[in-house]
Amino acid sequence: MKNILITGATGYIGRRLKERLLKRKDLSIRLLVRNRNKVRASVINKVEIVEGDTFNKDSLFEALKDIDTAYYLIHSMGAGKDFEERDRRSAENFREACIETGVKRLIYLGGLGVKESASKHLLSRIETGEILSAKPDKLQTIWFRAGVIIGSGSASFEIIRNLVQKLPVMVTPKWVKTRTQPIAVDDVLSYLAEAIDLEYKENLIVDIGAETMNFQNMLKGAAKVMGLKRLLIPVPVLSPKLSSYWLILITPIPYQMAAALVEGLKSETIVLNDHASRYLGNIKPISFEKAVDNAISEMEQDQVISRWCDSSADIACDIMNQDDTHTAILRDKRELPLQGVSASSVFKSMTGIGGKTGWFSYHYLWQLRGFMDKLSGGYGLSRGRRTHKELRVGDALDFWKVADIKENKRLLLLAQMKLPGKAWLEFDIQPDKLVQTAHFLPNGILGRLYWISVLPLHNLVFSDLAAKIVARAREIEKTS
Ligand SMILES: NC(=O)c1ccc[n+]([C@@H]2O[C@H](COP(=O)([O-])OP(=O)(O)OC[C@H]3O[C@@H](n4cnc5c(N)ncnc54)[C@H](OP(=O)(O)O)[C@@H]3O)[C@@H](O)[C@H]2O)c1
Repeated sequence: MKNILITGATGYIGRRLKERLLKRKDLSIRLLVRNRNKVRASVINKVEIVEGDTFNKDSLFEALKDIDTAYYLIHSMGAGKDFEERDRRSAENFREACIETGVKRLIYLGGLGVKESASKHLLSRIETGEILSAKPDKLQTIWFRAGVIIGSGSASFEIIRNLVQKLPVMVTPKWVKTRTQPIAVDDVLSYLAEAIDLEYKENLIVDIGAETMNFQNMLKGAAKVMGLKRLLIPVPVLSPKLSSYWLILITPIPYQMAAALVEGLKSETIVLNDHASRYLGNIKPISFEKAVDNAISEMEQDQVISRWCDSSADIACDIMNQDDTHTAILRDKRELPLQGVSASSVFKSMTGIGGKTGWFSYHYLWQLRGFMDKLSGGYGLSRGRRTHKELRVGDALDFWKVADIKENKRLLLLAQMKLPGKAWLEFDIQPDKLVQTAHFLPNGILGRLYWISVLPLHNLVFSDLAAKIVARAREIEKTS
């Protein structure tokens, strides 16, 4: 039995890797997570969980004790201006803790590209790899480097899908011609998983990717898979900044992420060594079109395991210790009798809100609020939901994030729209009633003015919401 540690296990790659490795009987899996509530109840019994982070050395030692292979799937992008320094310290702490605890192999996934032309995010990823692999005599590092990753819920795929679906004609800037080698997320997972058993004793950098293409080919390829005819008109200009503004309007990606992706696409990200075929040659990466097809199928079957917005990344999105609404000082509370409707049906109904289902009444007002949020640099409603089957702590839900969920009892949503304060929307099932509360902690006078100005809107959107949830619960009961 090999002991494996997965860090970043609540992120896009980490969540999927955990699912993949859980299928193997010869591995015992431990997760290092910042917030254990983000791990699904169904997984908790199958893994060991250590709560902590790479800046807390005690938690690192606890997480790495007796570990054979440790995955480093962490980055600090979105954590503020000093993200490069955070990334450096995080990698150093992790490497040193691996050495002290006697870890045999460290596996890291970074980005394709070279230092000379790298964006500052890619540069930080390269630096992370260099730091992790800096002591080869004491710790073996297998450093995978991937470019654009295509999978349901990946940021790159969401951008491509949204552009292709929404725009019959696209004006494309110069950077869409840059060469890159996208790879399907399942292939990335195969490489990461097989690296556990690799018979190789020294440090290794493994570049991974499928066919060489550019962003324009990707748009055309995705349109073909979706059965859409799209006209691309190249223009010699269109600055990365303007492209990023355009992307945030059309896609669910926030500005910071769009800017980083566009910046990344300005320089080539292609495979520079043959180590993937030489050492892990049994993995044959699927084509870009097949990867898009798989991603769309996963979405259609409502089987999206992880999304780009799963991690807390941005400090503003951190849901750690965000489930206590007592700090709020302004509230809008509504109560609705259940009149015999069961708690489980109400729970099903209230956890089904948002995304394609919408917000039951005054949907146009929610859309307007989302649009205003987008204009002010927020997420708007465009993130939707990961799946319509379930919600878990940390899931993005339009412009909210799930901060707490208790089966047949409570759903707490933390607002991630741009606000002069902190806001939650809570649904609490009591024995005979549903209590719906909007909590608000204003930032000074501006926050209070904001709250007063939206009171008429709250009267419309909140007055009916609980009633609609209960009415829908009644429908659910009738049909089940
Ligand atoms: N996704 C892609 O398209 C892509 C493409 C190429 C390469 N990669 C590489 O793959 C790796 C993983 O990326 P990802 O997309 O999966 O990232 P992600 O979705 O943003 O997840 C990051 C994970 O790191 C955790 N984390 C952040 N700081 C931490 C710390 N100090 N201590 C412990 N955990 C911490 C986060 O926890 P919380 O949930 O608590 O925030 C989250 O689980 C990165 O190195 C990235 O460069 C990704």
